Amino acid sequence: MRFFAQIRSRSILAFAGAALPLCTLLSVAHAAEAPRLVQKDGRYALLVDGRPYLVLAGQIHNSSGWPSELPQVWQSMTALHANTVEAPVYWEQLEPQPGHFDFTNVDRILEGAAAHNLHVVLLWFGTWKNGNMHYVPDWVKTDTKRFPRVIRPDGEPIDVLSPLSQNTLAADKAAFTALMRHLKQIDGERHTVLAMQVENESGNVGSVRDNSPEANREFSGAVPADLLAAAHKKPGSWGEVFGAEADEIFQAYHQAKYINAIAAAGKSEFAIPCYINVWIHYPAAELPQRQIDTPGIGYPSGGAVQKLVGLWRALTPSLDMIGPDLYSDDSRFYRDTMQVYLRADNPLWIPETGREESFGKLFFYALGQGALAFSPFGVDQTDREGLGAAPWKWHANNYALIGPMDREIAELEFAGKLKTAVEEPGQTEVELNFDGWQATVAFGFPQNDGRHAPGTKDAHAVALVAQLGPDKFLVTGTDASVSFHLAGKQPWIRSQILSAEQGAYENGEWKPLRRLNGDETDRGLCFYQKPEVVQVSMGNF
Ligand code: DGJ
Repeated sequence: MRFFAQIRSRSILAFAGAALPLCTLLSVAHAAEAPRLVQKDGRYALLVDGRPYLVLAGQIHNSSGWPSELPQVWQSMTALHANTVEAPVYWEQLEPQPGHFDFTNVDRILEGAAAHNLHVVLLWFGTWKNGNMHYVPDWVKTDTKRFPRVIRPDGEPIDVLSPLSQNTLAADKAAFTALMRHLKQIDGERHTVLAMQVENESGNVGSVRDNSPEANREFSGAVPADLLAAAHKKPGSWGEVFGAEADEIFQAYHQAKYINAIAAAGKSEFAIPCYINVWIHYPAAELPQRQIDTPGIGYPSGGAVQKLVGLWRALTPSLDMIGPDLYSDDSRFYRDTMQVYLRADNPLWIPETGREESFGKLFFYALGQGALAFSPFGVDQTDREGLGAAPWKWHANNYALIGPMDREIAELEFAGKLKTAVEEPGQTEVELNFDGWQATVAFGFPQNDGRHAPGTKDAHAVALVAQLGPDKFLVTGTDASVSFHLAGKQPWIRSQILSAEQGAYENGEWKPLRRLNGDETDRGLCFYQKPEVVQVSMGNF
């Protein structure tokens, strides 16, 4: 139990910093609650120990959830400045024989994470992993009668389990509920685990739908009433109701119901947030291996891809969110995809994204959209990958900047007070509008008098501005300057900086280091590549 003490003391210290005695009492009461989602004014927060939490995660490689790999995982998480590790739990390891459970891996993950002051998001690699079934136990793989496969139109079975099978559903559900029951026992009071991912990138690779006799029988009947209601359609056959998309929607329907049943059963044991991650639909050829734009080939068929997220949401009330795995660094596509998944019924949660430098600035777009979680994939340094000393420099820089004030940033996101500016090629200035004030963000240095800001060579600059009060702002960024002014006026007309304090949040309390003035404020507040944060108070006259 020793390993949990650090997580607990971190939370309580965080409260104590900001707190009156009454708040402390309330916070301690909240600390008994399991992590949960809350929604207010159309925005979401993940409450952990009673306060909004921003998940700054790194996901480890698929084969790194083993005790032998964990020492390097903890080193990598420290280097990334992550506050959360996303780690897989393998069905094949958890239940090597039917009904015999081995919790060694999951116990070691939780112990190690807590010892390193990290939270955990667990990924259930069960029936599906990347549109296949590669993590199911051998006793499932070898019993194709009891656990039937998806059948292609030509009659060939593939390495995907059919979601129409009640046997498979019962087996996955039993393993998942055993896992959740165990987590409740070891973590029910400690809250190391923030959320559970149910399956991984579910779907079929290799066939649009299951064409087994059972599936064909279902497909030749009428569309079920719950799907009609979810899709706002009138009764009819699958072809009549869904036309050319009937096969894909048939598959999505059965998958969504299957996953919802697993999530519901798991949450009845341990009610923490549950979500799915999605292998999204990329534009054809955006990724070289995705040149055929067909469900089952371009992306796993039946998953909650962009066009199906609304339908999936309606069919999966036991899921708390559906998150897109975002592996394209095309900034427009990234933002558009976030917009698709950020809905009144779905918070923005990015379970996986690229670890390369080009993804660094996209984190700031996600923060500006109110993301609850962000997680570059494959950030542990296994020997099998020739990763350099700092392969994810921008992610590490971002987390070093935002990590020390993760709770404050989560609160400001939830309150709708936070905006970000991100450099794009050719666009070296961005205007951010706040209640009563505007901030001009200019990218790249040097910013010479009378000249436009030069931008940076690879358009990586970012800034974050959050309104703390009517005339008070929290400001930070990388390779950018930020100048406040009144709408339609230059910064020096009728407005002035009253104070600009560089400082840092420590356990919830703002600790000023120094006051900035003169060259450090006359051309805006300037942020280079060192993690620096400023609180500025403005006045008008
Ligand atoms: C997405 C999957 O969800 C991960 O488990 C991993 O396979 C990555 N793709 C690899 O890029």
